[in-house]
Amino acid sequence: MALASQSPRVEHPYESDRPHGMLAEMTDDTSRILASNLLDEADLAIEGSLRPHTLEEYIGQREVKANLSVLLAAARGRGEAADHVLLYGPPGLGKTTLATIIARELGVNIRYTSGPAIERPGDLAAILTALDERDVLFIDEIHRLSRTVEEILYPAMEDYALDVMIGKGPSARSLRLSLKAFTVVGATTRAGRISGPLRDRFGATYRLDFYDEDDLAAIVDRSARILGVAIEPAAARAIARRGRGTPRIVNRLLKRVRDHAEVHGTGRVDRAIADEAMRRMEIDDEGLDSTDRKLLAAIVQKFGSGPVGVQALAAVLSEEVETIEDVYEPFLLRLAFLDRTPQGRIATEAARQHLAGLGFEIPPPRRPEAEMPSLWEPGTGSDRPGEVGLGRLPGDIRFERDGLVVVIPLATMLLVSVVLTIVLSIVGRGK
Ligand code: ADE
Repeated sequence: MALASQSPRVEHPYESDRPHGMLAEMTDDTSRILASNLLDEADLAIEGSLRPHTLEEYIGQREVKANLSVLLAAARGRGEAADHVLLYGPPGLGKTTLATIIARELGVNIRYTSGPAIERPGDLAAILTALDERDVLFIDEIHRLSRTVEEILYPAMEDYALDVMIGKGPSARSLRLSLKAFTVVGATTRAGRISGPLRDRFGATYRLDFYDEDDLAAIVDRSARILGVAIEPAAARAIARRGRGTPRIVNRLLKRVRDHAEVHGTGRVDRAIADEAMRRMEIDDEGLDSTDRKLLAAIVQKFGSGPVGVQALAAVLSEEVETIEDVYEPFLLRLAFLDRTPQGRIATEAARQHLAGLGFEIPPPRRPEAEMPSLWEPGTGSDRPGEVGLGRLPGDIRFERDGLVVVIPLATMLLVSVVLTIVLSIVGRGK
C-alpha cells in the first residue's frame, strides 16, 4: 500500500493541471452555457477568479453561513479540527467554494478529491496519512465512493484511525494507525444516495438552495467589479433573472454578455445589450435554454405531457438519466414546470403555457393516472386537485413502455372483493 501522497500539500482544482474528479462528465454538450456543472479547465479558472474567499464575501445561503460561522468559530476557539460537514444540493451552488472558505477560515490546508477518483482503499489511505493536523479533506460526489473505500473512511472520520490489513489468508492481521485530526467536507448532489453509516459520521449537514434574484444580481455586480466590466443595475438584474438560481451560471452569462458588449457596443453592459446577448444565446425569459425546452417539448409533444419515465425521456433526448436528474430537472422543478410523480415526469400547465407562448405546438394532455387517482394520496393531476379514488395500491401491476403507462389494479380489486365479501356475509347473517 502506498502511504505517501505524491500530490502537492495544498491542492486546488483551479490550480491543478489534473482534471478535477468527474465534474466535466455530466453532460456531453460542452457548449451549453446554462449547464450548472463545470465543463472544462477554462471554466474552472473563471470560477476560481470570481469565487469569494471568506464567509463575509460569500453572498446568499444565509442560514448555512450563520450555522457554519458558529461551527468554525467554536472549532477555532478550541483549537480543534472542525466537525465533519456534509454539503448537498444541485450543482453550481457553491459547495466547493464553501469547502475552500471553511479551510481558509480555519487557517488550514485543503486537499481536494472526489468519490470516483478514489478507486481503492490504498488511494484513500495515501490521502489520509498525508493530511496535517486540522486539515480539510474535500470529497466531491461523495455518494460515488465505493463500499470498500467507505469502510476505510468510517474509523478515519470517527477515531482518526486507519485500519490496515497486514498479510493475507489465515496469518493476516489488522493494524491500527493513528491519523492527525482532520475535517471531511463532503459534497453531493444526491443526499439520498449516501449510505446511512456515512451520513451518521457528519456532525453538520447543510443543504444549499437555489439563490434568489437579489442575491444573484449582487453576485453579478461583484463579479463585474472583479472582471472590470461596467454594468448597469438593470442589466445585472436581467442576467440574474435568467441565471437559474445558480452563481456559476450567472458568472458564465456575464462573461458572454461582456463579449457581446465589447464586439457590438462600447463595452458597457446596459439592459439592451444584455437582452440581445441572451436572445442570441437562445435563453428565454425564464432562463431556459434550448436543451430545457427540448426536454419539456419532448414530454408535451411525444408523451402527451406525461407521465413519462425518466429512462424513456433520456432515450429520446440521447442523455444520461443522471444528467437529466442532476443538471436539467432541479431548476425545472423549482419553476414548477415539471412534476415528479411515482408514475413519471409530468410537464405542468405552466410549462405548457410557457412553450405555447414561444410558439410550440401543444397537443392536449394524456394523463391516464390523473383519471385514476390513488386510494391513499390526493390525486396528482392538477386538473383534479385533492380528489381521492381507487387504483394505486402496493401489489397493483403497473408497467410502462415508451411513456405509455398501463395499470392493472390487481391488489385494489382483491381488496375491494374481500371487503365486499365480508360486508355481504355480515348482511346475509343479519337476515
Ligand atoms: N461567486 C460565485 N458564488 C458566489 C457567492 N455565493 N458569493 C459571492 N460571489 C460568488
